[in-house]
Amino acid sequence: MSIPKHVAIIMDGNGRWAKARRLPRLAGHQAGAKAVERTLKAAQEAGISFLTLYAFSTENWTRPQEEINGLMQLLEQTLDRYGEDAAKNNFRLWISGAREPLPQAILGKIDKVVAATAHHTGLTLNLALNYGARQEIIHAANAALNAGEKFLTADILRRYLYHPDLPDPELIIRTSGEERLSNFLLWQAAYSEFYFTPVLWPDFTEKEFQAALTAYAARTRRFGGV
Ligand code: IPE
Ligand code: IPE
Ligand code: MG
Repeated sequence: MSIPKHVAIIMDGNGRWAKARRLPRLAGHQAGAKAVERTLKAAQEAGISFLTLYAFSTENWTRPQEEINGLMQLLEQTLDRYGEDAAKNNFRLWISGAREPLPQAILGKIDKVVAATAHHTGLTLNLALNYGARQEIIHAANAALNAGEKFLTADILRRYLYHPDLPDPELIIRTSGEERLSNFLLWQAAYSEFYFTPVLWPDFTEKEFQAALTAYAARTRRFGGV
């Protein structure tokens, strides 16, 4: 079976999961954090090298302040736990996204875990946090100009993306039945395979992950050829 090197996931449906249970939206996000742990394990066991998880988009700042605060708190707790797990499991943490306006407490924890895991050789968890694909492309173009590049090519632009060494995702999964990118990896997704499932993110299991990999293995990728 052909296994992708890089799988990216748009983790969607936490709010609807909570609503169906008459719980606050934050309860959905808490359940979603458990699905993240399951998925990390499943990805590692499947032999995936890079797992990008869309955790918070540049547009998610428009949500109610209470939900944003809850999400940031959850993220802090997850980073603490991840710091410990990463040491045990040889995971490496990368972040894709802009630092501004993330709270200082989060940035400090991120820097700590990223530095502590930089030399790890296991799975790379690339957390898309305060991430927007249009922002990433604009940032790359500006960084290229600042560095003195006079003429952009695809290869040159790529060098200024958040992680030039991150291969394009062969597979992008989105849960909750929505079938759109929502400003995720617009550059990198040029030839990605898509897998959409109605399962809400908090219900996403190792079995669901395996099903996505099986579907991917059955695809024929042509890259414009015959
Ligand atoms: C995804 O779940 C998590 C984030 C975007 C942070 P949602 O919160 O978007 O859940 P729905 O789409 O409202 O169900
Ligand atoms: C995309 O989900 C962002 C994340 C999963 C972090 P959204 O729930 O924000 O996307 P839309 O608003 O349905 O497009
Ligand atoms: Mg959503």
